[in-house]
Amino acid sequence: MSHATRTREVGFDELAVLKLLALDGARRGETKVSCGDLADHLDASNQTASRRLQALEDAGLVERDLVSDGQWVAITDPGSRALEREYEDYRRIFEDPDELALSGSVTSGMGEGRHYISLPGYNRQFREELGYEPYPGTLNVDLDAESQRARSALEAMTGVAIEEWEDEERTYGSATCYPCTVASDDTEFSPAHVIVPDRTHHDESQMELIAPEKLRDELGLLDDDEVTIRVEER
Ligand code: CDP
Repeated sequence: MSHATRTREVGFDELAVLKLLALDGARRGETKVSCGDLADHLDASNQTASRRLQALEDAGLVERDLVSDGQWVAITDPGSRALEREYEDYRRIFEDPDELALSGSVTSGMGEGRHYISLPGYNRQFREELGYEPYPGTLNVDLDAESQRARSALEAMTGVAIEEWEDEERTYGSATCYPCTVASDDTEFSPAHVIVPDRTHHDESQMELIAPEKLRDELGLLDDDEVTIRVEER
């Protein structure tokens, strides 16, 4: 939704008209439109239909050629892109995600990652379930605003369950790991995993990554560097 609203120059009423025009073939070339027919379709007055066409033309989404008995309308490239954005939204709604790309900047945590990742109860599971011994620590990424909203899609993806365990003193909570590739500029690294504690309240704006190697070294990362995390569906 975010990307659609960012570039949407017209309202939903106009987009609905754009869609009707496209269904009539106006994306492939000019199509003859009568305001009366359009008004019937929209269950609105002729005036309303005409106003919406005008708004679409003003926004550069259609080109019009007025003739005595109606008008010829063609959807422009920007108009076509506006519809593609709607299509992309519906694709997200109805199709299972197979990849989720999140981006943000590298940041330093409070040095806790090193401790937790090294704990034997987790370490054994990482080796068995992820197939590698993680570098002791987590790379923290501050997600940008759009990725903070998009991260909820992670829950729909298949993760690797890391079970809770306990020692003599306390219980350590369960977590879920999502396989991902971490990219910065033109370099990328995998395997890596996003690790999300299942119960502990965590900061939605941050994401923690584990990998068999130190990602800062592999990707030449410093604090504030931009990274893209591509989470793959297994
Ligand atoms: O201090 P902080 O909580 O950020 O770090 P940590 O979890 O104790 O990890 C130690 C250092 O290794 C930090 O600089 C992390 O950013 C980095 N790290 C990394 O580059 N690659 C990993 N796979 C894990 C941690």
